[in-house]
Amino acid sequence: MSPSVRHFISLDDLSSAELRQVLDRARHLKAANARGERVLTLQNRVLGMIFEKASTRTRVSFEAGMAQLGGHAIFLSPRDTQLGRGEPIADSARVLSRMVDIIMIRAHHHADLVEFAAHSRVPVINALTDLNHPCQLLADMMTFEEHRGDIRGKTVAWVGDGFNMCHSYINAARVFGFRLNVATPVGYAPDPKVVAESDGLITLTDDPRIACKDADLVVTDVWTSMGQEEESVRRLKDFEGYCVSESMMALARPDALFMHCLPAHRGEEVDAAVIDGPKSVVWDEAENRLHTQKALLEFLLGALH
Ligand code: CP
Ligand code: NVA
Repeated sequence: MSPSVRHFISLDDLSSAELRQVLDRARHLKAANARGERVLTLQNRVLGMIFEKASTRTRVSFEAGMAQLGGHAIFLSPRDTQLGRGEPIADSARVLSRMVDIIMIRAHHHADLVEFAAHSRVPVINALTDLNHPCQLLADMMTFEEHRGDIRGKTVAWVGDGFNMCHSYINAARVFGFRLNVATPVGYAPDPKVVAESDGLITLTDDPRIACKDADLVVTDVWTSMGQEEESVRRLKDFEGYCVSESMMALARPDALFMHCLPAHRGEEVDAAVIDGPKSVVWDEAENRLHTQKALLEFLLGALH
């Protein structure tokens, strides 16, 4: 791997200043899009997109984003590539990274993504693993700041599973400087290794009402993530009391926002009255995947230098 290649495997791969630069650029690209201006910073660049799991937002935002910037994206699934027939990850990384300019991977196992990146000549972007989902956090931070200004010093409540999205919120608390109250049922707490790196900005509880008290932002995610489908019946029971309801939102600040990375299950992790109500910014959050990832692609490809 070339020493100058920058990956985006977790939020920590960029400094706080660089993440701010990406968000500023995303705002600029969003405004340009709204004015109908064409920004062709990635002409002739090619993104390879490896999806081991399903996706709507991630696939469409990366693919549309590359097209809008003048580049091209190739969708690669293990079902119809040699990756699904046992070709080693390192070999696949060596080959693909000689053909495309940048690669995005949605993988079951985070270790596979890390191995791929170690053998790639070009930047690798984490598009969700069992450990984290850093691209989603770029969109979430942009969305909060569009509606409420600087997130530094604010309080965010995470309600639900201490899994990939929760881990990325823990990382984000440190790099973006907010307090994070994490409420998870017993047995679903976030990985202690991720918590240990949080610089003490995190409070852990098993009471979602404590977590939501005076929060500026309440966030949740599905109770059964992709790959955990066999546990869904048990999880429905274990997460009882964790549905983000209007009464839970009422414990947060009066101007609190609600976010969810989507897809959502109304009546499970969130009530329809909340996700479809006035505090919810989930559609802006989904749209901002497009603008933030366009800015990320430009950044990793050095397209603005
Ligand atoms: N939030 C998110 O990553 O959505 P998809 O699974 O549809 O890509
Ligand atoms: N935690 C969810 C996020 C989906 C975007 C999952 O991993 O399925």
